[in-house]
Amino acid sequence: MEDQIDLIYQGKSYKFPLVKGAEDEAAIDIKTLRAQTGLITLDPGFKNTGSCESEITFLDGEEGVLRYRGYSIEDLANNSSFIEVAYLLIFGELPSADQLDKFEDEIRDYALVDEDFKIILKSFPKSAHPMGILSSLTSALIAFNPSSVDINSEKDFHEAIVMLLAKFPVLASWTHRKMKGLPLNYPNYDLSYTENLAHMMFKMPNKDFKPSPTLVSALNKLLILHADHEQNCSTSTVRMVGSSHAGLFPSIASGISALWGPLHGGANQAVIEMLEDIRKDGGDTKKFMAKAKDKNDPFRLMGFGHRVYKNFDPRAKIIKTAADEVLAELGIDDPILDIAKKLEQEALDDPYFVDRKLYPNVDFYSGIIYRALGIPTEMFTVMFAIGRLPGWIAQWKEMRFNKEPIGRPRQIYTGYTHRSI
Ligand code: ACO
Repeated sequence: MEDQIDLIYQGKSYKFPLVKGAEDEAAIDIKTLRAQTGLITLDPGFKNTGSCESEITFLDGEEGVLRYRGYSIEDLANNSSFIEVAYLLIFGELPSADQLDKFEDEIRDYALVDEDFKIILKSFPKSAHPMGILSSLTSALIAFNPSSVDINSEKDFHEAIVMLLAKFPVLASWTHRKMKGLPLNYPNYDLSYTENLAHMMFKMPNKDFKPSPTLVSALNKLLILHADHEQNCSTSTVRMVGSSHAGLFPSIASGISALWGPLHGGANQAVIEMLEDIRKDGGDTKKFMAKAKDKNDPFRLMGFGHRVYKNFDPRAKIIKTAADEVLAELGIDDPILDIAKKLEQEALDDPYFVDRKLYPNVDFYSGIIYRALGIPTEMFTVMFAIGRLPGWIAQWKEMRFNKEPIGRPRQIYTGYTHRSI
């Protein structure tokens, strides 16, 4: 294979190096394009633009492959805990038993948040969307921990990572309690990360609470499946914000906002709302399929299609099986699961979806599990954010340690040329 690409522009030939990844993906390195030719590239939505070289996650959208640090998502989802996966993503290797114990203890030690967070929480109306509250509270973490972003001190930076992993589920569960008007719960030192999350979200003051193994195992799997997904919209946001040397906490807060949108993480909420709409409308899936295909109708089949996957999203396959298991174990008969399955089959048989390679994505079935576990719809994207946190941290860390330059795209100006007043 060639190791450079020739570009001919205005009769002159220019050479650009070809960069190859570990899995043979290839890119033209255009770092000197403008300096050499005066040209820039134009790629709205960055459909063909690699923003970095990364060692964290490999994704083959044509084959439906997803690996964190070389380990397949199927292996990790079936055999690991979320904290092991977080360690893997952030530090590059799966932890030994001792490393895992130490990491979990550190997270437990940092799991209290300043009581003044309650004042901030109180100032939001009950109707505020939990994603907005979570982004604000995450941003506020910096005000309570101003020394927590020094990447030149290994100790301080490690502390910042642990602090964020420890406090984030507390803040996330508090958004849920706030929305429900319930007293806030504190973490319990004896519980695992996932058990603690369930405990803080669901424990009532007047009742014992022991999270069921079904709930813990389903949550663990969902968090792992969401833990990283290379340069998606929210992760690119985290890297972009961090590239200005803004701190880790505000960079993550920006990622939360990016995740919120219905074309990204907010799709899990949108899917359930869509399935509910179909059910209330009488369950005619064909009618909604027709709307999704109608170019004059803004309706899209939520939970379908992906910028990178042009095959089954491997996470969707795992989640679909998990949804069946959870509903069976909990003895829940959810009519919207049947609608989802019908819709999926119709889309997979329909030339519109087949030709455009639109398959179910991670969000298509995740909401059905969250719902079965008693998590309100507005909290679905918050659950996604808890899962994505280690990925955002790992990507932010890689970006800073690789000393990447500030992210600053160019543009082609199409407005007025100079005019006088
Ligand atoms: N329903 C109907 N048509 C669709 C859908 C859909 N869900 N998704 C894409 N298409 C069509 C588009 O209309 C377009 O058709 P055209 O070529 O005739 O104009 C074609 O498929 C390509 O779609 P684009 O929007 O160009 O693809 P893009 O890569 O920009 O968008 C996205 C990907 C945003 C995920 C899109 O598929 C979508 O909106 N899906 C629904 C929302 C969703 O589920 N988002 C979650 C993604 S996973 C995640 O972020 C965690």
